[in-house]
Amino acid sequence: MEFSTTTAGSLPLIKTPALAVGVFQDGILSPAADALDRACGGKLRAIARAEFDASPGSSLTLHALEGITADRVILLGLGRQPDYRAEALARAHQALASTCLKAGVSGAVTTLCALECPDADLTQRARLVARVVTAATYRYDTTFSTRPPAAKWRNLALHLTRTQAAQARAGLVQGAAIGAGVNLARQLGDLPANVCTPRYLGRTAKDLAREFKTLKAEVLDQKKIEALKMGSFLSVARGSAEPPVFITLRHTPSAASARKAPPIVLVGKGITFDAGGISIKPAAAMDEMKYDMCGAASVLGALRAAAELDLSREIIGIIPSCENLPSGTANKPGDIVTSLSGQTIEILNTDAEGRLILCDALTYAERFKPEAVIDMATLTGACVVALGHVNSGLFTRDEDLAARLLAAGREALDPAWRLPLEDAYQDMLKSNFADTANIGGRPAGATTAACFLSRFTGKYRWAHLDIAGTAWLQGKEKGATGRPVPLLMQYLLAQCPA
Ligand code: BES
Ligand code: MN
Ligand code: ZN
Repeated sequence: MEFSTTTAGSLPLIKTPALAVGVFQDGILSPAADALDRACGGKLRAIARAEFDASPGSSLTLHALEGITADRVILLGLGRQPDYRAEALARAHQALASTCLKAGVSGAVTTLCALECPDADLTQRARLVARVVTAATYRYDTTFSTRPPAAKWRNLALHLTRTQAAQARAGLVQGAAIGAGVNLARQLGDLPANVCTPRYLGRTAKDLAREFKTLKAEVLDQKKIEALKMGSFLSVARGSAEPPVFITLRHTPSAASARKAPPIVLVGKGITFDAGGISIKPAAAMDEMKYDMCGAASVLGALRAAAELDLSREIIGIIPSCENLPSGTANKPGDIVTSLSGQTIEILNTDAEGRLILCDALTYAERFKPEAVIDMATLTGACVVALGHVNSGLFTRDEDLAARLLAAGREALDPAWRLPLEDAYQDMLKSNFADTANIGGRPAGATTAACFLSRFTGKYRWAHLDIAGTAWLQGKEKGATGRPVPLLMQYLLAQCPA
């Protein structure tokens, strides 16, 4: 998808297959809709009043309006004018995208970004629109026997004043890159586990490094992981015939002056299938455990976007990846393993495997002397119980990092909610036979998982995002969401000196 700006003078005379204008509830037209209404003799307002409720996400296509050059005018509902926020802007452009894709138009012009919005400046509005439109073009078709023809829609132009256009362009470039990162994360999540194996993730990292010159990939195989002594990670991998990989994907800004700040490290859980191991899961919905690598996918998606934008700060992605299966070589409840940190772990439940692979990756992250480490993981069913599918769970002891990540999530419409991470919960991880147990029992399950991770993060500022409820949708709409790539990119952009 190509994004551009246009400053063409007269809206009614713009030649485009689709011209989008905003309409508020109670019959209030945006300035652009009002201009078109005057050109067509009041017809637009009459139709909007009679048959358009203008709720957020609604749309109505008007064909061949007299006095208007565009092939069709698309009314986009923005909700009540006093409540207008960036979320309505995003939903309007999702509706625009689905209309344009269905109609098979080749291009469209949107007038909505010119509208002031209390929670998003122009750059942010353009970023959001480019991101959601790019994401709306995602279609999973890899494993069907016949693939549908490619979509015809090629470009979207934002109609703005000349001064606005300059500001918006940076946002469009960012949004397109973030959208591409989101779509990469979704594609990796949606692929079945017999295709998207640990080695496949490793290959994807190598492919990204070939495509973007600021990226360097290192993929360690089982022997190298053994040499590093990642005993906890390896104990999970042992149950599967599919070998583990340990991926490091590093973005180094092309400007030498931008390489001085310490790096930000992103760590992603890369369990390409989680059957639970010997503590095997029930059969219902077990297919969804192909999504247990969505943390890893979001790291790859964020690094792709960081590289495409050549962010002015070093970003390092770390991914431990393997399968969690039951077998004669699998780890067993009661087994005790030694992590890379030297701490011993009693594995009381082999289904609490995410933390077992992440702890070694978190220890490995120390070597980069990071500014901050953020890990993403589909870590606990308990987080889904607590927060549903709306918010990702945020855990950190660092108030400043919490504030930055929560703000980033809010701004990117990819929200997180902070959950407790206090020492009082650490007792639940006590083991009679090792330094720590890998589970803390049913109460506060998302917190005790985070507490376990915290034992490996003493050397740097750290936050953990539990994305078990937000990384994919269930039911008829089953599919990966690409979250939390938007949150991560909003955060990273804010940490990059201009
Ligand atoms: N990958 C799962 C968490 C999960 C479950 C995410 C369902 C999304 C939906 C994780 O590895 C797991 O199995 N966690 C256990 C931990 C328990 C054994 C302490 C869980 O949440 O049940
Ligand atoms: Mn599990
Ligand atoms: Zn898991």
